[in-house]
Amino acid sequence: MSNFWSWYITILSVGYIIAVLWLLLVTRQVKSDMTDSGENNLMEHSYDGIQEYNNPMPSWWIKLFYITIVFAVAYLVLYPGLGNWKGTLGWTSHNQHAEEVAAAEKVYGPLFKKYAAISIPQLASDHPEAIEMGKRIFLNNCAVCHGSDAGGAPGFPALNDNDWLYGGAPEQIVKTITDGRNGAMPAWGSTFGEDGVLQLASYVESLSGRPADEKLVAEGKAKFMTCAGCHGMDGKGMQALGAPNLTDNIWLYGGSPAVIAKTIRDGRNGVMPSHKDLLGDDRIHLVASYVYSLTHAAKADKTGGK
Ligand code: HEC
Ligand code: HEC
Repeated sequence: MSNFWSWYITILSVGYIIAVLWLLLVTRQVKSDMTDSGENNLMEHSYDGIQEYNNPMPSWWIKLFYITIVFAVAYLVLYPGLGNWKGTLGWTSHNQHAEEVAAAEKVYGPLFKKYAAISIPQLASDHPEAIEMGKRIFLNNCAVCHGSDAGGAPGFPALNDNDWLYGGAPEQIVKTITDGRNGAMPAWGSTFGEDGVLQLASYVESLSGRPADEKLVAEGKAKFMTCAGCHGMDGKGMQALGAPNLTDNIWLYGGSPAVIAKTIRDGRNGVMPSHKDLLGDDRIHLVASYVYSLTHAAKADKTGGK
């Protein structure tokens, strides 16, 4: 904080406290003059024949006022409140947060370590309590993008459908969460023009078995060579690049003809942020186990199966 604002806040705060104190002392003087004789403290004005006494304020009320002043002064000495003054206790919200994190780490650290030593498939099948912890981490960190049921949203992949951009093996899920991912679908509008984009979109639709204009499909198919480097000759995608399978009628961005054409025309750049620093390896292990469990039913899950 600049010195100007520091002094501005300090002078205002201390000034108010002094002003309130002064007001209390002055009014106490006034009232003691007037309360000597009972008759004197009748106020002069009268309204509809009703008159008012000028009685002192109740003493408990005055005392409360003094207590608030003492509290304010003590607080401003102990805690940072006056501009740049740090307070004699040395309290900061940052320290408090760090202490709380350290306390939580002490409680949960050993538990996380214990689970870190167990493989993800094993956690998913035999340790529902670990999956429950992973689910809580998911709700706090991932649900905003992937949905609280991990069902996804346009641009944010569903994690419960066993259709993977980057792969659903434990180590692939861990890598996705740890390092993040960046899907790079180039824009093709200027290369192929609007006609070319519509032909390609028709071909892509036909790959998922949708009805599409045969002539457009044939022309799109001829152009699809350009796409095969990433999506594969058969359009089944490539997990190393995060290029989606275009033949399964599962859509990251939506499967309407207009949306598919827009993807091809303008390109897409989905970003899965890295969670390495935010969560650390042990929590990532747990949340990855939760994600994995969504498509791999637990042995103990008696409701699943038949
Ligand atoms: C800011 C939004 C956001 C947050 C937060 C987020 N993700 Fe993602 N995630 C994405 C996007 C977008 C993609 C797809 C990236 C792409 O299009 O290439 C993705 C992809 C993934 C994938 C790959 C899916 C596949 O099909 O291969 C996994 C697994 C995943 N996220 C798990 C998580 C987990 C677990 C968390 C919480 C720790 C999380 N994500 C938090 C946006 C997010
Ligand atoms: C450089 C690699 C690359 C090339 C070349 C490429 N794509 Fe893509 N494509 C991707 C990636 C990666 C994504 C996923 C984007 C994301 O995650 O945000 C994608 C996404 C798409 C999608 C969206 C799928 C969905 O589920 O919503 C369509 C449709 C698509 N591409 C069609 C094409 C067509 C048609 C071509 C050829 C003209 C093409 N792509 C060329 C990498 C590529």
